[in-house]
Amino acid sequence: MVMVCKNYIGGRWVSSSSCKTLLSSNPADDTVLGNFQASTRDDIRHAIASAEIAFHSWRDTPAPERAKYLFNMRDLLVKNKERLARLIVLEMGKVISEARGDVQEAIDIFEYMAGEGRRMFGHTTPSELKDKFAMTIRLPIGVVGLITPWNFPIAIPAWKSAAALICGNTIVWKPSSDTPLCAVEFTKLIAEAGLPHGVFNMVTGSGEELGDELVKNQLVRAISFTGSRDVGERIIRSSGIKRVGLELGGKNAIIVMDDADLDLAVDGIVWGAFGTSGQRCTAASRVIVHERVKKILEKKLVDRAKKLTVGEGMHHDVGPLINSSAVEKCVRYIGIGHIEQAKLIWGGKHVLIKGKGNFFQPTIFTNCKPGMRICQDEIFGPILSIIPVKNFGEAIAVANGVGYGLSSAIYTTDMAKAFHAINKLEAGLTYVNSSTIGSECHLPFGGVKGTGNGTREAGIKGIDEFSEIKTVYFDYSGKLQKATIDD
Ligand code: UN1
Repeated sequence: MVMVCKNYIGGRWVSSSSCKTLLSSNPADDTVLGNFQASTRDDIRHAIASAEIAFHSWRDTPAPERAKYLFNMRDLLVKNKERLARLIVLEMGKVISEARGDVQEAIDIFEYMAGEGRRMFGHTTPSELKDKFAMTIRLPIGVVGLITPWNFPIAIPAWKSAAALICGNTIVWKPSSDTPLCAVEFTKLIAEAGLPHGVFNMVTGSGEELGDELVKNQLVRAISFTGSRDVGERIIRSSGIKRVGLELGGKNAIIVMDDADLDLAVDGIVWGAFGTSGQRCTAASRVIVHERVKKILEKKLVDRAKKLTVGEGMHHDVGPLINSSAVEKCVRYIGIGHIEQAKLIWGGKHVLIKGKGNFFQPTIFTNCKPGMRICQDEIFGPILSIIPVKNFGEAIAVANGVGYGLSSAIYTTDMAKAFHAINKLEAGLTYVNSSTIGSECHLPFGGVKGTGNGTREAGIKGIDEFSEIKTVYFDYSGKLQKATIDD
């Protein structure tokens, strides 16, 4: 019998008022894994109301006390790491080593944010007047809405919820409909961690209806969204006056200069382009290579790509794409690459295993021009475009010539070039002699241009996303003192 998963609202597992469910299936072989609630606007309003009620006592709970729940969650994630990783392989499709990494990111961020419970720094500064004290403190925002993607079904919800919780917010979470079972398992651990009822609520179902309500509802004071640029733009248009944090993907480039260690670069490119089957917003989808080393780099890349095995995630190097639309998108872009006269040197095909599965070959196009659509659009699959350039200046211009700005990398042994790249690359992240993927949880994560609206997740900046700064003036002079502007 197929398992039926419920929503989690006000500390109880409840069915949707729609009495309807949706299916979650394995992208490697279409096996049905479970049913989840096809929730309605009313369901999510119910969750928002629960979060609103719970906010009053959660906000008054001292942050070091809130941290205890986060430490509990960290320990539960450690205990359940292997089980969750296997579920990620089944439902999302990434390979097991990366699935373990997905859970590890969640462990790390809960640990980090729990520590923030004893920091949560504001600052003090002198007042311009005598006998007056000036400082800032952090307060929670209120009910926050989290809308998360499927590609890191445990890590990204953890990034957002650990930061939101330690700051004293209550949560309504709308997980991706491609990974609802991971969301339910994450929520079970949250419940086991003992959070007071209503502090964390999870509602599954269509983004159109639930996301729309979360974004527009005036009781929800902030939205944190990771996903496509189209949806991000819609959120900005319809959110009204509330805080919105966006992380919207990328078209990330690795620059390979003629002085680079090419074998090191090949390791980084293969990992960045084909890890998670290219389904990371930090994935390397462009290689910008100095023309002097283009041929040799191409050969090394093809040799490596040939060796990658494609199949279900427990025993292969490259797992399936998330669903059939993702495969169709890749197929469409292979066609576009051909029309644009890029040269396909490896891959390019949908692969079926025993007649099933959303598998796609690691694919390499070369002789690409920077303006081609395969070099501009986020494809979110294992498709890499190689763009030859004549010099460092051109490499930087090409790297920056896209609408996104999340991650970037340069391989060079010339430290001056590396520092110029750090300054000039329009991206939230720049890696030197390392791939575009693999951020660490105590450093800020996010991007510029079409990737986001300036917020950063993780690290200390993750606290900024989920807290309000209050400026406090404390006058102990016993008389009316006017600030110099009024004096
Ligand atoms: C994403 O793909 O949405 O640095 C984020 C990385 C991951 C982040 C992935 N930690 O590759």
